[in-house]
Amino acid sequence: MTRRLITAALPYANGPIHIGHLVEYVQADIQARFMRSMGHEVLYVCADDTHGTPIEISAMKQGITPDELVARTWEQHHADFRAFGMSFDVYYTTNSPENRALAGHIYEALKQRGVITRRATEQMYSESLGRFLNDRMIKGTCPFCGAADQYGDVCESCGKTYKPTDLLNPYDAITGETPVLRTTENIYVRLTDFVDLLRAWSADAIPQDGVRNFIETWFTTGLEDWCISRDAPYFGFEIPGEPGKFFYVWLDAPVGYIASTSRWCQDNGQTWEQWWGPDADTHITHVIGKDIVYFHTLFWPAMLHAAGLKMPDHIQVHGMLTLNNEKMSKSRGTLIKARTWLDHLDPEYLRFYYAAKLGDDITDFDLNLNDFHMKVNAELINNLVNLTNRVLKFLESRFAGDPGPLDVDHPLVATVQESVARIQAEYAAWNYRAAVRAITELGSVINTFFQDQAPWALIKDDPEAAHRVCALALHGATAIMAALAPITPELVARFSQCVGVERIGWQHAGTAWRPASVHAQLRLLDRIDPQHVQNILEQSMSEATPTPPATPPHAIEADDFKPEVTYDDFAKLDLRVGVVEEVERVPKADKLLRLTVHCGKRINIFAGVAKAYEDPAVLLGKRVLVLANLQPRKMRFGLSEGMLLAVAGPNDEGLELVNLPPTALGGWSVS
Ligand code: MSP
Ligand code: ZN
Repeated sequence: MTRRLITAALPYANGPIHIGHLVEYVQADIQARFMRSMGHEVLYVCADDTHGTPIEISAMKQGITPDELVARTWEQHHADFRAFGMSFDVYYTTNSPENRALAGHIYEALKQRGVITRRATEQMYSESLGRFLNDRMIKGTCPFCGAADQYGDVCESCGKTYKPTDLLNPYDAITGETPVLRTTENIYVRLTDFVDLLRAWSADAIPQDGVRNFIETWFTTGLEDWCISRDAPYFGFEIPGEPGKFFYVWLDAPVGYIASTSRWCQDNGQTWEQWWGPDADTHITHVIGKDIVYFHTLFWPAMLHAAGLKMPDHIQVHGMLTLNNEKMSKSRGTLIKARTWLDHLDPEYLRFYYAAKLGDDITDFDLNLNDFHMKVNAELINNLVNLTNRVLKFLESRFAGDPGPLDVDHPLVATVQESVARIQAEYAAWNYRAAVRAITELGSVINTFFQDQAPWALIKDDPEAAHRVCALALHGATAIMAALAPITPELVARFSQCVGVERIGWQHAGTAWRPASVHAQLRLLDRIDPQHVQNILEQSMSEATPTPPATPPHAIEADDFKPEVTYDDFAKLDLRVGVVEEVERVPKADKLLRLTVHCGKRINIFAGVAKAYEDPAVLLGKRVLVLANLQPRKMRFGLSEGMLLAVAGPNDEGLELVNLPPTALGGWSVS
């Protein structure tokens, strides 16, 4: 039988697990639990992703070493995941000896294949830090929309991507200094060699149309070489044979899937090759968010193939979570930490809600906190849990816990069987939303049956008939619990105790199984008190730390001053306030504006500042600085009778006319 390996993306070790992450770990966990429930041998693998610059920066800010930070974070992540019911078979770290060895091994294989190239590039370098600055260490003005303080890879304001060297006014995000350009040699993987292979592979491995479509556009536009090296200092693995060069974190991160498998294998008498080797009889699924598709559908399968390993069988992609229809924000406190949730609410409510929302598509979805408590209370508690509770209580109090005789020919039994088959099919298709719908529909059917048959009334005249009603309802409730087991394992564990089995599974949803006796003494699951939901949000907001704005540079170094002048030289200049009365572009002269300026008298001026003003009319009424006694100059377009003073940085960066206070009147002198 094929063995199933399922992974969730490895969370970065530079921050706590939050409810956005949990979408993915819950989605993968439900699948792992479902596959186990179907009798597959399953390995659910995850780890912390520990390398790279952000982690180094985090550690620096906290005044600890990256190793300490990574160890601390692992404890927290591990505890959070446990509390949220993640059934990982192994939770490891990419900062491990296994991972170092495997990353080196795969790199060697890429070299053998002849797909490693090297070339020199210019990169931003900080002289005071003595290091190259990568995307996240540089900020500046977006070259597309002009938004200030954007990182070196992508503009958060307009969403465009670019190279750090494209930023205007770049500055080092740590010191605020202006970086310099320096040449360094980098190591690349040539991906063009893999296009045909990847295309063929994706046809099977990527069943979601939306995902296949966007990777197809990458194939058609062509794959650029992938840079896998970073210069020291870098928190990661040094590249074998390349002193001072480290693997880029995205090289060793996915290798962490294998390293974690290896860790598990060592404890269980197996080898990682039995799972990842070219002939392994395994089915490998990666569950990821749509933000990291590129890495998992291009780089990673290419690396595996080049290393002679098995390529993943299936990439399952989900969309991103928003909170109350807004992008979650750490600084606004709407990025709710797993820990904060646990302080107030049972994690199973969230697991249920996510399952009820998740389909096989990659659309983003919203956690609306109001909808959340209403949906969970209505569907999970009122419909499913309360039914189960009532049936258990009735059997216990009126029939001494005897489950009663099951009428296997009753149409309700057939309904239960059909529902179970449908629910299983929906789980297998990653359509949890539909599985939950089928479960709640079954719940409604059983509820209606129980209500209509009213055993509490029936028992007076025909106790045996009442008992049969309860037996049927219990059969339905048991199927519901078996179906909920991948989603709400703790709830189902409590139910299992009530009916005296270790763990309810699909076999208990069949007619062959009957509990010996039932008890209702355990609380199954309470309704959500909306106040607790409110408390989560309030705590999260009160813990928010608004990110202090990084300080951009406020000056440049300049030593190219012109020769000294005397005061008398200066006094010869007649500088005046000018009020702009007319302004227009000059045809066939892109750079020029023609202005009428009142500086004590009306003069005509041509100024080379057109490209600084998309709409020159904004200048009307502005107080500008005029050199009023400049010798008039005859230009192609007319006479220029003075000069307007403007500021600009190197290459005309930040070009703008000097603006005087609006209280000044045209003709006033400036001295
Ligand atoms: N470290 C990389 C993954 C390396 S895998 C070899 C990474 N880490 S992450 O912590 O940023 O994200 C981990 C997973 O959580 C990603 O698949 C990401 O899509 C998912 N999510 C993070 N925020 C999310 C939402 N707001 N909504 C849904 N999933 C989210 O990427
Ligand atoms: Zn922008």
